[in-house]
Amino acid sequence: MSPLSRRRLLYGAAALGLLGGCGSPARQAGVATPQQLHCDVSVWDAAEIPKVPVSEAVTVTVGHGIDGLPEFPGDRVSGLCRGGSLFLQICSDDPDAVRDAAVRLSPPSGLRWREQGFRRADNRNTLGFVDGIVVPKTPEELDQEVWLPDGSTIAVVRRIELDVAAFTALPVGEQERIFGRHRDTADPLSGPGEVDLMAKTPDGEYVIPADAHVRRANPLMSGSGLMLRRSYNYAGGLLFISFQRELKTFVNTMFRMIDGDALLRYATTTSSAAFRIPPVS
Ligand code: HEM
Repeated sequence: MSPLSRRRLLYGAAALGLLGGCGSPARQAGVATPQQLHCDVSVWDAAEIPKVPVSEAVTVTVGHGIDGLPEFPGDRVSGLCRGGSLFLQICSDDPDAVRDAAVRLSPPSGLRWREQGFRRADNRNTLGFVDGIVVPKTPEELDQEVWLPDGSTIAVVRRIELDVAAFTALPVGEQERIFGRHRDTADPLSGPGEVDLMAKTPDGEYVIPADAHVRRANPLMSGSGLMLRRSYNYAGGLLFISFQRELKTFVNTMFRMIDGDALLRYATTTSSAAFRIPPVS
C-alpha cells in the first residue's frame, strides 16, 4: 500500500471513530476516548451525515434517535428541542477544527438545535465546581456500565440552563452543601476519597445533606448503574451528555434528583433527547 493511501485509510478511520481492537466490535470514538476541550453538538431530522473527510484532530460521534426518555417535571423543552433522529458530536482540542468539521459534516437540512461546548482544563463547570469525577473509568467498568456487547451504547443529551448569577451569589458553604463537595479541593464533604453517604456529624446529621447533588445522583440512591458523564460547559450552562448501556440508568437518576436535589433550583432543561450510538460497521 502506498504511504498516501495508507494515510488516507487512517484518516478515514479516525474521522469515523474506528477504535475496535482485534476481535472486539468497533466502538465509536467520543465516548470512552479522552474528552477533548471543545465540541459542537447538534441534533437533526436527517438520516445520516455527509461522508466527507475532516481533520485528524477531530473526533466524530453519531447517534440515532430512540424513544423512551420521558418529559421530566420542571423541563422547559418545546418543539424541535425534544427528540430528533440524528445526533452529531464533534470534538477536538482545536476550536477551529471543530468549526470546520461542523460545517462539512452538517446534513444539508433538518437542523433541530446546535450548541458549542467547551471544557476548562481543570474540569470546572460554570458554577465553579469540578465535574466528571465519579464515572466508570477502567475497561471493566466501561464494559459493565457503558458498552453493550455489540459495541453500541445509549447517549442522553440535555441542554441545561444554569442560573449562574443566583448560585454564585450564595455563600460558598451553601454552594458546597448543594453539591456535597468542596469547591476548591473537590473533596466530598465527608472527607477526601470516595463519597461517604453514611458519614454523620456529632449531632447525628448527615455530613452530605439529604438534598445534595452527589447524594441524589449516587447510584446507591437511584438504584441504577453509573453513567459516564461527559458534559461540556456552554454559554448558558451545562451541555449534559451521558453514556450508559441502559436508558433507565439516566431516567432513574433524574427522578431521584427531581425528588429533592437542591441543584435543580438553579437548573432548567431546555433541550432533551436520547440516541443509540451504534458500533462502526
Ligand atoms: C444541573 C446541572 C448539573 C451540574 C452542574 C452537575 C454537576 C455535577 C458535579 C459538580 C458533580 C460532582 C463531581 C463528580 O462526581 O463528577 C456531579 C456528580 C454527579 N452528577 Fe451531576 N450535574 C448536573 C446534572 C446532572 C444530571 C441531570 C445527572 C443525571 C441525571 C447527573 C448525574 C450525576 C452523577 C451520577 C454524579 C456522581 C454522583 C456520585 O456518585 O458521587 N448530574 N454532578
